[in-house]
Amino acid sequence: MRSISAMGVAATMLLVAGCRQDMHNQPKFIPQRGTSFFADGRSVRPQVENTVARGQLHEDTYFYTGMVNGKEGDGLPIELTAAVLERGQERYNIYCTPCHSRVGNGNGMIVQRGYKPAGNFHTDRLRQAPLGHFFSVMTNGYGAMPDYSAQITPVDRWAIAAYIRALQLSQDAKASDVPAGQHPIDLHELAKEQGLPPGFADDWGNELPATAVKGSPNGKSFVLPPSATPGMVTAVQNQK
Ligand code: HEC
Repeated sequence: MRSISAMGVAATMLLVAGCRQDMHNQPKFIPQRGTSFFADGRSVRPQVENTVARGQLHEDTYFYTGMVNGKEGDGLPIELTAAVLERGQERYNIYCTPCHSRVGNGNGMIVQRGYKPAGNFHTDRLRQAPLGHFFSVMTNGYGAMPDYSAQITPVDRWAIAAYIRALQLSQDAKASDVPAGQHPIDLHELAKEQGLPPGFADDWGNELPATAVKGSPNGKSFVLPPSATPGMVTAVQNQK
């Protein structure tokens, strides 16, 4: 009886060993390794001449480069809608505010901690710069600024460029921009109307108040509301 079960075990072991999956031994090309299969000895095949991989045609060069005949072009190659501006604002706040700040004055948190001052979008030069310039800076980088082409898709780069135009308008509005039949409201009046602190309007003198740059109304660091994302709040609290 004992020898039978020993034989059984031995047979099972032989079977298991015989069942070794040899898929990793199948014929295949290991990246960058040579082969005798192709005449040139390369397993990695060069691109077939005069062909373009699917999705890489990029026929609309302005959309993908922001350039027209080697020069930065002006104009938005996508339809401008409120949704595009909102998307631009969201992406801008994620990718650009650390250096450029929420209002785009170039004094974001990383700059406050010692990074090279980032561009201020509210200079005459950048107000007059064509839209393609902003696309090109995001695509290729600019001086000390890294490029964001890997992180931000072309369509989102255009949305951000459009939003930067809105930011520029927001800091350079003139009384004549107010639509006919409406009138600009004095900030003191607005503060009273909306129950804002009495000093609110005084903050907005010639310089942007700290609240505009830091993005929190009371100058304190922003705390996530407990209901927002439970996991995240715990993570933030744990870091303290
Ligand atoms: C890590 C910090 C950093 C981030 C993030 C950053 N920038 Fe910049 N940016 C800079 C710096 C620094 C400069 C100034 C570069 C110089 O003059 O050498 C600059 C300059 C610019 C300029 C001005 C170029 C000019 O003509 O003077 C534009 C436009 C710009 N950035 C757009 C953006 C946009 C849009 C984003 C988000 C997608 C972004 N930046 C994210 C650091 C940053």
